Amino acid sequence: MARTLITGGLVITAAEETPADVLVEDGRVAALALPGSQRWSADRVFDASGKYVVPGGVDAHTHLEMPFGGTRASDTFTTGTRAAAWGGTTTIVDFAVQSRGSALRAGLDEWHAKADGNCAIDYAFHMIVSDVNEAVLREMPGLVGEGVTSFKLFMAYPGVFYSDDGQILRAMQQAAELGALTMVHAENGPAIDVLVEQALARGETDPRHHGEVRRALLEAEATHRAVQLARVAGAPLYVVHVSAREALAELAAARDLGLPVFGETCPQYLFLSTDNLAEPGFEGAKYVCSTPLRPRDHQDALWRGLRTDDLQVVSTDHCPFCFAGQKELGRGDFSKIPNGLPGIEHRMDLLHQAVVEGRISRRRWIELACAAPARMFGLHPRKGTIAPGSDADLVIYDPHAVQTLSAATHHMNVDYSAYEGRTVTGRVETVLSRGEVVLDRGDYLGRPGHGTFLPRSTCQYL
Ligand code: URP
Ligand code: ZN
Ligand code: ZN
Repeated sequence: MARTLITGGLVITAAEETPADVLVEDGRVAALALPGSQRWSADRVFDASGKYVVPGGVDAHTHLEMPFGGTRASDTFTTGTRAAAWGGTTTIVDFAVQSRGSALRAGLDEWHAKADGNCAIDYAFHMIVSDVNEAVLREMPGLVGEGVTSFKLFMAYPGVFYSDDGQILRAMQQAAELGALTMVHAENGPAIDVLVEQALARGETDPRHHGEVRRALLEAEATHRAVQLARVAGAPLYVVHVSAREALAELAAARDLGLPVFGETCPQYLFLSTDNLAEPGFEGAKYVCSTPLRPRDHQDALWRGLRTDDLQVVSTDHCPFCFAGQKELGRGDFSKIPNGLPGIEHRMDLLHQAVVEGRISRRRWIELACAAPARMFGLHPRKGTIAPGSDADLVIYDPHAVQTLSAATHHMNVDYSAYEGRTVTGRVETVLSRGEVVLDRGDYLGRPGHGTFLPRSTCQYL
């Protein structure tokens, strides 16, 4: 039996903060005890004095190797999961994609083939449904049985992933029947396409116009519609990448009615803004994602939503495209810039910076980044917490280390950082995934193939 001991750290979960020694046996947390109170023997001992011991992060929204915008997200399952581990994330839930005209099965098989044997950390899948029809509805129970218990529908991107209201209602009805969670990208795609066409006709081609045409009201309108469709279907709803204050207000209103409606935001909406989209030259392309970055004054509303639990999860929506050759596809036409930002490596650190700045508590940090996504997507208590029996996905976190985020030092396979030059306090020191050391004080010890597929149960947040 391989035994690892982590001594003297402050163990932080969503529920409590306790100085404790943590004993790991055979990849699982075996026991916690007051520091020094037990004479445990171990093969390896990590001294976490002065440090935090936190659950490995659960990033419930990533797009690795996803074909999109005429190109493909630049992180593979190998590079993306390695970068995640560097940042203290030990579980991802990636989006398998159904191509139009194909079966869900084909998309899911393709995603298994991409991930199998290549991941440094554990992984699970949601399923993007881009072609709702009778055959697809009949496939959904099989996927739920295989542990793919959430389905994402798009109100945006007509001609690509878009579903109309009738299709969304049908998919929601089926998901509700199965106990699965419906995830929605809430933006009014057809209306946005009209505004895109009009902007381009006026010669407004720069990246900043991406943010202008994708109006906050069109995010709010779609969010409202998604909530009403979910009500009619009797389905729980999870709205991804919420960026607009007005959309958040729709979620808060639904939750005030007691509806099972949940929301996620991402670090880019909390730390970046339309100021970045308006950076000179074509630099703004680095910040093109959908929903788009909003004016800075939306950030306070999002932080409030995270504190009041109108938003439950912070994920990255990691969907990286290199500036050279990928973002550049949209020079002269912002609508051709591939949508997506890199971020899988920095979520834990950026949220810790919010702890340092007094925006959220330490326990809320762990709840938003680890426990709530694990519960939302049926991975708790195996993931997202530190308790006897849970996977030993553990991070020793130095809350005092100062680091500067930069493309020169990050590990994501992308040629720029959305946070270039930003200094944050706090840094991952050691990462264990199911008891195996993946990272220790700057030495990467992980390997592709260590990560295994996680079949998920249904949502545990209801
Ligand atoms: O811009 C984004 N968010 N790209 C990834 C696809 C999506 O809509 O989540
Ligand atoms: Zn989306
Ligand atoms: Zn996404």
